[in-house]
Formats: sequence, C-alpha cells, structure tokens
Amino acid sequence: MNQFTKRFRFFRFPSLSGFTGSPLDEGSHKIMNNFDFKPQDTAAWKRLKTHANITTINVVDELTSDRKRVEDFSVQCGQLRLDFSKNLITREIWQDLLALVYESPFDKHREAMFTGQRINTSEDRQVLHTLLRAEMADDIDQLYKGMIGIVRAQLDMVEVFSKKIRSGSWIGVNGEAITDVVNIGIGGSALGPKLACEALVEYSQSVPRIHFISNVDGAALNATLAKLDANKTLIVVASKTFTTQETLLNSTTAANWFEQEIGVKNSQYSAHFVAITANSANAIAYGINPRHILEFEEWVGGRFSLWSSIGFSLVVSIGIDNFKQLLAGAREMDLHFKTSPINKNMPVALALMNIWYCNFMKFQTHAVIPYCERLNSLPSYLQQLEMESNGKSVSRGGETLEYETCGIIWGQTGTNGQHAFFQLLHQGTFCAPVDFIAAINDSTSELLHHKVLLRNMLAQGSALIKGQNSTADAPHCYYSGNKPSNTILMDSLTPHNLGSLIALYEHKVFVQGSIWSINSFDQWGVELGKSMAQKLLNTEESNNSFDASTSALFDYINDRTL
Ligand code: F6P
Repeated sequence: MNQFTKRFRFFRFPSLSGFTGSPLDEGSHKIMNNFDFKPQDTAAWKRLKTHANITTINVVDELTSDRKRVEDFSVQCGQLRLDFSKNLITREIWQDLLALVYESPFDKHREAMFTGQRINTSEDRQVLHTLLRAEMADDIDQLYKGMIGIVRAQLDMVEVFSKKIRSGSWIGVNGEAITDVVNIGIGGSALGPKLACEALVEYSQSVPRIHFISNVDGAALNATLAKLDANKTLIVVASKTFTTQETLLNSTTAANWFEQEIGVKNSQYSAHFVAITANSANAIAYGINPRHILEFEEWVGGRFSLWSSIGFSLVVSIGIDNFKQLLAGAREMDLHFKTSPINKNMPVALALMNIWYCNFMKFQTHAVIPYCERLNSLPSYLQQLEMESNGKSVSRGGETLEYETCGIIWGQTGTNGQHAFFQLLHQGTFCAPVDFIAAINDSTSELLHHKVLLRNMLAQGSALIKGQNSTADAPHCYYSGNKPSNTILMDSLTPHNLGSLIALYEHKVFVQGSIWSINSFDQWGVELGKSMAQKLLNTEESNNSFDASTSALFDYINDRTL
C-alpha cells in the first residue's frame, strides 16, 4: 500500500469498513434491488408485444410524413449527438418503450447506483465507477465525498508515477530511462486502456511507447519482447484480482525475460514492474514491490475500470491532463444520464432501441461500426462491456428469465466492413441493427479522406433504411430497406468526447440491466471454463470428469504433441 492510499484508507476505515451502502434491512434491500420486478408482466411490455405482432412500420414514410421525427428522435449531450430516427419505431411504440422504463425500477435503481447501494448483489458490492469521474461539487452524499478523496489520492499516485516515466526519471536497474511500457492484463484490465490509447494517439507522447499483451498464447508476448530492450522496458501488470491465469503467466514469463536479458533475478520486485490492482496482498505475494503498486477499489468493476488506476498505461501515453479530460467527458454523460428527462436521455434511448429489437422484433445481433480507424477497438471493448454485463439468463432474484437479454455485439470499422459483411446487412435474411459512430472533424486525416469516409457512412445508413426496388430482370438488385440504425456523431475525437462516448454505452448497459431485471455487474458465466481449464492443467491423462469429445481431443493432442 503506498503512502497516499495508506493515509486515506486510515481516514475512511472507521466509517466505511462495515458499510453496507445504507442502513437497509433485508426487506428494503430486496425492494431497493427490485428482485421481484418482471418486465413481462408490465402493461407496456404487453402493448409492445402487440405492436411487434401487428404494427407495420415503413420508416422512410414516417420520416417523410412526420416532420418533427428527426428532431424528436435525436438527443444531444455536450458534443455528442444521437440520431435514432432511423429505427423501426412509431411514436406510439416510443411512448410504450418509455412507459416500460416508468413501470420498471430503473429510476430507483439508478439512484441506488449513484448513491452507492450494493446493487451488485451476487458479489455484495457497490457499483461506483461514476465516482471515479465525479467532482466534489457534484450532488453526492457526504459519505461519498470522502470516497472521492480516496479516488483522488489514487489518481495522484498515477500522476506521480506517469510523470516520472514520461520525463525519463523512472530509471531501470541499469540506470536507463523507460522507452517501452508493456501492459499485461486481459478483459477489463486491457480493453479500455487499449481502446483509448489507439483512439487518442494524436495526444500521445512518442516515447514511451505502449504495448498491450493479453492472450496467454506466448506468441503475443514473445513477439513484443523480441523488439524491446529490457534495460528500458517497464511491465505494468494490470489485474483487479491478481489471480488471472493469463496475466500471471505472461508476467512471470516477462520476469524471466529480464533475468535472461539483463541478469535481474526476481525482477517483479525491481523498478521494471508496476502492478495495478484492487488486491495489493496478492500482488505483494506475487513478488511486486509494495511501493510499485497502484491501487483501485473493489467497487470498480473490471469492465468499468478504465477510469481508475487501470488507466495508468493510457496516462503514460497521453498525460494526466488529457486523462482528466476523459474523466470530465464521462462525468458530463453521467450528469446527462442522471438529470435529463427520460425521453431526451441518450443512454435510455440507445438501450430502448436495443430492447425493442432484442425482446420484441427478435433481432439477435447488433453491429457497431465506427467510421473512424482510431476506434478500431471499440467493437471488442463493447463486446465485453455489453455481453459480459448483460449476457445473463437468471434474474437478480435468481429466477430463470422468460425473455431474451443482450444480443450479440459485433462489428468493425467502416469503410472496411462495407467490403466484408455489409452485403448481409443490406440483402441478408437476418436484420442486424447498426450503430454508426463518427467524428465530424479529424485532424489526423486529410480533408478529402475524411469527407469520403463520412459520406460513405451517411450513404450506408440511407441505403439500409431506403432500400431499392428491383426490376423484373434484376431481382438480385432488390434491397428491402427498412433496416434500422443509430447514428452517433461527435464534433471530434477528443479525450473529453471519448469519455462521453464510453460512459454512454456503460449507462446503456445499466438501463438494460434494470429493465431486464438482471445484475449487470457480475460475471459468473466465465468461472466454469476457468476452473475446467485448471483441472485440465492438473492432469496428464484424460479421465471421466470431462465429456467424451473433450477427453478424446485431450488424448489426440497429447499423442501428437512433439
Ligand atoms: O474473466 C473475466 C474477467 O474477470 C473480467 O471480468 C475481467 O475484466 C478480466 O477477467 C480480468 O480480470 P482481472 O483484472 O482480475 O485480471
């Protein structure tokens, strides 16, 4: 534990160590978390089902006849604009979707998150990533202002460490400054910083360079280390739990590399290793020097952790001031989410469109297509954010759900996708709604390139919704049209706007979790595979504890292993 967090830990301990979010008894805890809510029993849900069965919608006709549709189906938050007018909804359906929100516990649930109730019930944890970007002046309970103090102290440590590294005063064992930082982490401990480092490359300092290693496939780590000079390399081990198999194995291999390259034994303890974790005890047991640990709190979920010390590699890349801009952008979205009316609330609109498709139109996938090369990693980031959060089939109260949750999120950048899967989007037999995302201005690209990029995006959205009639001799030229999309525009891809964009999707996930009555903040579905992998690692011979296919594959691999 470092000196800053030590101080603040002492300060908060008496009041928060046994804190349960509020003095709630068992019954009110149940009500606060709305274990009993069943969306399918609401009047709005039933009306929406009827709409899906009988209402025929031609969106182009709606856009033509309803002059206010675009305005009413658009929402602004700072420099972000969402146009959701190209969706398969009438005004009546929109009203019923809003009614579903009103009939759901969303309002109370949102308040519960922002006020630190333990809404992650299966892990008995608060969900306070919004506190990482809050200001003291915000309308937050006095208790949480104390917690902002802890967050600030942790951010101060990130600033101190990152400034030393950026300025060249963080010195390796042989007295050399750091030129390369390797972030070893997976899932939430990598995807956010990687996305943001790529998106904000324009703001980055050329040295140190940042590398991300996640996969346990040694090829990834070896290829990166082969290019680096151990004297000038810093390994950042990012792991909330400090138990993740891939991360620990990659870190150990990296530690051995220092020994081979420059003869440093137990290099985990040296100045070549920094750990970021919510579990310092594990990091110390692993061999990290306690003075090289950047902490964050347990109430920061892995996939919501970019804003915490997990953002360290990003801070090394873009500097603390730009990182604070990212936080400010996320905060702007938080305030919008908290205070805007439901019908002009961007995360709510995004969530409702998806609920309409997932639960009523039965569209099973959702494509995210950034028309922005720097947002190349956004689809993978959102895959974890949405699917790990809401890919659930049991309610908060433990009941098996009778309705769909979270569709499959997929995508890649435009215009690349146009030459790969857009054929299916336009003429395939499945309907996959799309989120188009773009920056209006881009100083990293020539004006003409950017114009071509944005016009392509507009053309795709329009072609999807308008379609095209075929002639008798060219039925293959028929486009049904009526294929829905959202368009999210930002003035430019700044740290601030990136913060708002990511927070937008975080809150979208929250709204959906509230309505679907699920806990969006745990991920028990990843545990079984982890424990089975461990079992397989502990055995050299196939046995009956696996299915016959897996046992046969195990033997086949063993037989052919050279
Ligand atoms: O396996 C899923 C998961 O637990 C994610 O939720 C998390 O982001 C990732 O693994 C990495 O976990 P950690 O930061 O504890 O290494």
